[in-house]
Amino acid sequence: MAASALARLIRANQPCVVLTGAGVSTESGIPDFRSPTGIWAEFDPDEYASLPAFRAEPAKVWTFYKPRIAMLTEAEPNAAHRALAELERGGLVEAIVTQNIDLLHERAGSHNLVEVHGSIRTATCPACGSSYPREAVMEKLAHADAPSCDRCGAILKPGVVFFGELLPADAIERAFELARRARLLLVVGSSLEVHPVAALPEETLAAGGRLAIVNKGPTPYDRRADLKLEGSAGEVLGAVADELLS
Ligand code: APR
Repeated sequence: MAASALARLIRANQPCVVLTGAGVSTESGIPDFRSPTGIWAEFDPDEYASLPAFRAEPAKVWTFYKPRIAMLTEAEPNAAHRALAELERGGLVEAIVTQNIDLLHERAGSHNLVEVHGSIRTATCPACGSSYPREAVMEKLAHADAPSCDRCGAILKPGVVFFGELLPADAIERAFELARRARLLLVVGSSLEVHPVAALPEETLAAGGRLAIVNKGPTPYDRRADLKLEGSAGEVLGAVADELLS
């Protein structure tokens, strides 16, 4: 079975670092971005997920993030998240670099996590810098369409990286360092369309490491991967964890 080939690749090429995208969370009921039924088919990211849009119309951006934060909070980790946490516990996954903001890897038990696009864990005040945990933001959203700062009244910014915004420097530096040291970079559920994260596979390959991809649909690195599996993240990773850890 294809998962056996991936299991062999992981066992033979350590350390293995995993790079995940929205495709690892679709089996938790969270739509991805660029599939035909993805989020960007319904919402224009320039209008709802860019820094200029937030600066111009923060309340409008919250019409997108209020239901999104509620949905992500309701979602549960799926078999893919659980398998990756088990593989970390088993010493076969060194770290996960995730583009996802949904906290599902952490909730599944993964520890060595690099959240390169931020997360819904907090929201911050762009005016005075105050930070609010997700629970406080949800409480504010129960009474308002956009959460505002207790100290200065400005509308809070979700703790996620918007288009046009720099990624957290420490996170992206750590991600590139992990990719350089990885003997295998396993990409799961990402179209590898968005930079700088989409350059991580190049970092691994340039340092002599190998690439494996589990993704429904093409990515720009398919031809340079030792293995490309077009299956479901939950099924493939579940089978890999069963094979390597049982
Ligand atoms: N199993 C495997 N692959 C899947 C599954 C699944 N269950 N579900 C979806 N996919 C694939 C899709 O076919 C798609 O190729 O996952 C990929 C997800 O790609 P995108 O939707 O582009 O998501 P991602 O790569 O994470 O986007 C990167 O773009 O919009 C920004 O900040 C946002 O972090 C996001 C970044």
